[in-house]
Amino acid sequence: MQTELRGRDLIGDLDFSREEVETVLEVALDLKRKRALGEAHPYLRDKVLAMLFFFSSTRTRGSFEAGMAQLGGHAAFIESKTTQIAHGDTPKEIGEIFGRYFDGIAIRHVDWGIGNQYLNDVARNSRVPIFNMQCEIYHPFQILADLLTIVEKKGRDLRRKKMVVSWAYAASYQKPISVPQSLILQMPRFGLDVVLAHPPEFKLMPEIMDEARRQARKYGVGFEVVDDMQAGFKDADVVYAKSWGALLATTDQEEGARIIKKYESWITDERKMALAKPDAIYMHPLPADRQIEVSNAVIDGPQSVVYDEAENRMHVQKAVMALTMH
Ligand code: CP
Repeated sequence: MQTELRGRDLIGDLDFSREEVETVLEVALDLKRKRALGEAHPYLRDKVLAMLFFFSSTRTRGSFEAGMAQLGGHAAFIESKTTQIAHGDTPKEIGEIFGRYFDGIAIRHVDWGIGNQYLNDVARNSRVPIFNMQCEIYHPFQILADLLTIVEKKGRDLRRKKMVVSWAYAASYQKPISVPQSLILQMPRFGLDVVLAHPPEFKLMPEIMDEARRQARKYGVGFEVVDDMQAGFKDADVVYAKSWGALLATTDQEEGARIIKKYESWITDERKMALAKPDAIYMHPLPADRQIEVSNAVIDGPQSVVYDEAENRMHVQKAVMALTMH
């Protein structure tokens, strides 16, 4: 168990070593058990977390806020548009000033080419831990929750299990690429053979792909890219299919929408799920475009674990906060 986590930031998925992530999972399971038993666990009494949002959220906001309260502390919800950031507060000032008010600063900023830099600029100037509630490159807390969910459903020995991370059609908007990128970085460290499936225009960042290949080599697991959803789903133990934008091809919303429209057939439905193993689980971070990205029969069906994933956001976040903010 690696317990030297006090004061640490979590911005990218690999900021914590594999052993440190194992510690997070162990603590998360302990906190989940304590909550189920109604056992108080006020490890962060009187501590306050700032939650700075540049983009909307349901699960991330709710789970961080509830988690801090359950740990005996408080979370302050701050929307960037209600601050003076637009009038000149710099990331340095946010780091310096919020670092003096709060015991941790969590930030969601998904603007392309801006968000991750913003988090790192705040982190450089903050005396307290910085948590990435999603930027345009990474969504590390989502992936910790996904990993905990996979361990709960498939056991701790994930070797020779196949996970497909697939693009799926959704018309609502060009969604960030941070979830698939974080998945292909983290999952190889835990033994899963990862297959990434997407149409040609939906490539991920080359440096992330290179790092995912390096992780797969290091941990002796498979990492393959295919451009066919069915091929990706075949014999999978874990199906993780969600939409993301063609952001490496274009950041223009209209052009992106035109590209997305070409791939309406990339829906997760019962026919495609039948290609996976009979006991495969279906995962999605939510929100999903129902009946477009995934059929109701799948997302509400027996293989779906989407609500467990959403619940586990809270447990892994509490674990990271308890380990870093005390
Ligand atoms: N999965 C996730 O991050 O959900 P929200 O966007 O609602 O926070």
